[in-house]
Amino acid sequence: MFEQRLADCAGQVTACLDGALAQLPAGPVRDGMSHASRGGKRLRAFLVMEGARLHGVSDAGSVYAGAAIEAMHAYSLVHDDLPCMDDDDLRRGQPTVHVKWDEATAVLVGDALQTLAFDLLSRPQVHSDPAVALKLVASLAQAAGAGGMVLGQAQDIAAETATTPLKLDAITALQSNKTGALIRWSAEAGAVLGGADTGPLRRYADSLGLAFQIADDILDVEGDAAKAGKRIGKDAEAGKATFVSLLGLNGAKDRASELVLQAQDALQPYGNKADALRDAARFVISRDK
Ligand code: IPE
Ligand code: IPE
Ligand code: MG
Ligand code: MG
Ligand code: MG
Repeated sequence: MFEQRLADCAGQVTACLDGALAQLPAGPVRDGMSHASRGGKRLRAFLVMEGARLHGVSDAGSVYAGAAIEAMHAYSLVHDDLPCMDDDDLRRGQPTVHVKWDEATAVLVGDALQTLAFDLLSRPQVHSDPAVALKLVASLAQAAGAGGMVLGQAQDIAAETATTPLKLDAITALQSNKTGALIRWSAEAGAVLGGADTGPLRRYADSLGLAFQIADDILDVEGDAAKAGKRIGKDAEAGKATFVSLLGLNGAKDRASELVLQAQDALQPYGNKADALRDAARFVISRDK
């Protein structure tokens, strides 16, 4: 049920992104945007669309919000892979944008994917009440910006050269910004679209986001580049502070499992209607890519 719904969301979101990209002028920036927005698990879009469905909101509107968060996420990956950041040459099994084109194009592709996210979120299909759409626009700006994902990325880079290794609290805060902020936005978006309390989905996302990043750090240690579609072993090489560097592999796995149970528990108010989101939490720590 979960796999089918994830594939269904992915298909809808990819079509929505392709439709938006087709409206843009042809050229290397559009080609790079298309390259960077292809593939991926589409987990964030799934959270948006499944959260929306829980509140009786149809896919026709939520797919735009799902496509918006995937465009934002794709931008964050294009910039994350740049030589001045993680210097990666492989993403989603393909050469990164700065490798296939060049650095200037990759910076611009990231910029344009970020603005595309807000473009998609401002489309009339998102919600009949512009005030609701505006709430999502503002909260996405905050989640992605200098108090959210960008802050997390800055903390991540700073941690590489920190004189004393980060403690658990600091790593938790870093990851809650770096990865957590966009995942939180994704999970809450459906409740915002449905005019409902965002509390339960926020609590779900707090645990899920952390579990997700711990799983990403574990993948970097014991994953397979061919399956993951990205280079492995880069965190240790860069001296990055991760849950694995702090807790060890087994400690990190135990923590991720605890967080999955916490995430599932937070969905109690929704009963078994939220089973797909419960499955998503398990998926997050059992994935190999
Ligand atoms: C990878 O995110 C980057 C992190 C935030 C850890 P995903 O693992 O969701 O990447 P895709 O979208 O499936 O490629
Ligand atoms: C990237 O984290 C997070 C964002 C792009 C916000 P990572 O650097 O750990 O992601 P991967 O491992 O390259 O996918
Ligand atoms: Mg990084
Ligand atoms: Mg990286
Ligand atoms: Mg990583």
